[in-house]
Amino acid sequence: MRIGVIGLKMGLYLATWCRRLGMEVVVACDRDARLHAGARDALPGAAFTERWEDLFDHRLDAVVLANDFDAHAPLAMAFLDRGVHVLSEAAACVDEAEGRQLIDAVDRSTATWSFAENYVFHPHVRLLRDAVGVGEVGRVSLIEADYLHGMSPDAVAALIGDPGHWRGRIAPTAYCTHTVSPVLALTGAWPVEVSAFPVDEADPRSAVVMAVRLSSGALAVTRHGFLQGEPDSHWSWVSVRGSRALAESVRGPGERAWSVRFRAEGWAGPDGQVRDVERVPPVLTLAEGRIAAAGTGPVGEPVERAAEGTVLLLQGFRDTVERGEPPLVPVRPGVAATLVGVAGAESLRSGGRPVPVPDVTGA
Ligand SMILES: NC(=O)c1ccc[n+]([C@@H]2O[C@H](COP(=O)([O-])OP(=O)(O)OC[C@H]3O[C@@H](n4cnc5c(N)ncnc54)[C@H](O)[C@@H]3O)[C@@H](O)[C@H]2O)c1
Repeated sequence: MRIGVIGLKMGLYLATWCRRLGMEVVVACDRDARLHAGARDALPGAAFTERWEDLFDHRLDAVVLANDFDAHAPLAMAFLDRGVHVLSEAAACVDEAEGRQLIDAVDRSTATWSFAENYVFHPHVRLLRDAVGVGEVGRVSLIEADYLHGMSPDAVAALIGDPGHWRGRIAPTAYCTHTVSPVLALTGAWPVEVSAFPVDEADPRSAVVMAVRLSSGALAVTRHGFLQGEPDSHWSWVSVRGSRALAESVRGPGERAWSVRFRAEGWAGPDGQVRDVERVPPVLTLAEGRIAAAGTGPVGEPVERAAEGTVLLLQGFRDTVERGEPPLVPVRPGVAATLVGVAGAESLRSGGRPVPVPDVTGA
């Protein structure tokens, strides 16, 4: 599978994993040519360019978009129109109109679009999906998801203080996809309405809380941005309360942060006993370019926990391109998750007023 990559910060990480999974990185692009030198060793054999349009000159099966957060859709549509499969980083679009254009482009293309949502495949989220999937939790009524960085005030200012950089110009609600995408995957629901609030009115850009009404009737509460108490599970913490039990990632340091606590009261079980257990995710190993639970495939090297989501995502993308499997996170859930942040920004501007999230399910 021949791929190109645009943006060589997060994109270099993704491209390096693509190579380890057996894909060929044919061309790598960053408008900042200083990054090319540093990427050459990691991507032997790749051509380098500063202009993303140059990728059209290469015979590519797929492209990985890791350019600016608020500029993915125009590039995605250009590649889709040329029959090149797209894996797009963490915002699908900037507003409803662009989201609908992107959906139209996917629908008319011979190629596919996948959301690069590694947070849906992190170890703790997979354990939660298993618990919800087999009905252990019951009907999901409240789901919470955090994506929080406990950085110093100086480091936060350096990261989001420059209005010329995408991190400084996007709305404080925009980067909600790493919380909302796991919520949608866990519930199978769509976002209907959102109310958004700054955590601290004295520092309103740093962190937000959103209350998102879901089509299932459940409520999602999401928190993202910069707050102390950073979870070691790649900054992600997720909790699901259902009609029969609670399942949530452990708020603990180190490896335990990938585990999930499952709690059911006595009335919910056949023996009247409380069940309160901590579940540890299976170890994944990588062998012959494929990832599998340890012991179920050829013997291979273990994948570090923080990379599991990315590796599963890329393996799924390869299966989409090479085998015609459906995208793991297709365009409609990707656009829907992104539009929660767009509607959330409007809510934020109007003091937390509930704002409808556009319905893209049938678009
Ligand atoms: N899923 C994850 O875990 C994860 C982690 C980090 C970043 N991301 C996402 O990846 C994307 C990039 O994030 P980042 O942290 O690497 O950002 P960044 O700003 O540090 O790097 C982006 C790079 O893309 C290059 N670039 C931007 N527009 C370009 C263009 N039109 N042509 C060529 N090069 C271009 C820039 O020069 C820069 O080097 C964002 O959408 C971000 O949300 C996702």
